[in-house]
Amino acid sequence: MQALYFNHFGGPEVLKYGPVSAPQLTATTLFVKPTYIGLNFADIYRRRGTYHLEPHTPMIDGYEGLGEVVAVGTAVSDFTVGERVLFVDVPFANAELVAVPSDHAIRVPAQIDDQTAASIGLQGLTADFLAHDLAQNQPNDRVLIHGISGGVGQLLTQILIADGVQVYGVASTEAKRQLALSLGAKQVFLRQSDWASAYTAAFDTVFDGAGVTLPLSLNLIHPRGRVVFYGMAGGNPPKIDPIDLMAGSKSLMTGDLWDFLVDANSRQQRADRLFKYVLNGQIMVNQPTIYPLAEGAKAHTALETGQVAGKILLRP
Ligand SMILES: NC(=O)c1ccc[n+]([C@@H]2O[C@H](COP(=O)([O-])OP(=O)(O)OC[C@H]3O[C@@H](n4cnc5c(N)ncnc54)[C@H](OP(=O)(O)O)[C@@H]3O)[C@@H](O)[C@H]2O)c1
Repeated sequence: MQALYFNHFGGPEVLKYGPVSAPQLTATTLFVKPTYIGLNFADIYRRRGTYHLEPHTPMIDGYEGLGEVVAVGTAVSDFTVGERVLFVDVPFANAELVAVPSDHAIRVPAQIDDQTAASIGLQGLTADFLAHDLAQNQPNDRVLIHGISGGVGQLLTQILIADGVQVYGVASTEAKRQLALSLGAKQVFLRQSDWASAYTAAFDTVFDGAGVTLPLSLNLIHPRGRVVFYGMAGGNPPKIDPIDLMAGSKSLMTGDLWDFLVDANSRQQRADRLFKYVLNGQIMVNQPTIYPLAEGAKAHTALETGQVAGKILLRP
């Protein structure tokens, strides 16, 4: 089979496209032929060698995809050949064929089309656990999202608005700002402008997936507020002293999606909670940007340099 692979860590130029050996079908796995593969920031961290990557020679990135089941292991009774499944935590997804443990496969309602489902999987489940497991905001809470027009940012915005929360955000360009406003954000600040001084202690929660912004985020919440830190898209944050947090009665919450997807039931239940927002018309998904899997290096560059607002999909 063909795959996007790399032999050493580095920039997008280390990615190559070519033949690699196909995975093994075990008793409990499904073979899935992906229609779309999701590209995520974690794939960049893995390609750089700064994030956990399942061992494989050559190294293969990618954990998210949507496709058709083309074979099932002998012990699999709950999925059949021809079914459409989504997966968000299965390694070696940057390939024409992916071995998906059957308890990692997620069923998608027929009313949700392939591109929409592939665009919201990992980022949507992330937005869901950030909102519902970590922040647990109440209606009328005031929250701010850094990188509001990013993949997680857009979905988080729409989930929180549907939950009755007042959403503010930060974006790097006017086009991204307008995009977030069109989703219902109350106000979106341009990152380069001098907006922050007027919003000290103004928010119940700040969602920070940018990392470098963590000290600012802590400044923006009021006492007893919380910062939900979930990524480093802008670079690693400085060390934070818990004594300073205690002195201001400020909480720092954090988490990794994988610790919230612990079994088949939790995957499907969380996905169904997310799909409900789509089926209710509360989550609108912009057209994803699609690259051939063979041009994965270009897709990595686009994601890393912020050229694209919203989801990037790879098509084998
Ligand atoms: N914890 C988890 O389980 C989990 C799961 C999935 C993703 N994540 C994390 O979530 C974050 C967003 O992921 P994504 O898939 O939504 O990526 P994305 O679509 O590329 O969005 C990244 C966002 O980061 C913002 N950003 C980049 N550099 C910044 C800086 N210096 N200051 C402020 N903002 C900056 C960008 O803002 P502009 O658009 O305004 O330039 C962009 O919107 C990443 O850190 C990712 O690792 C965490």
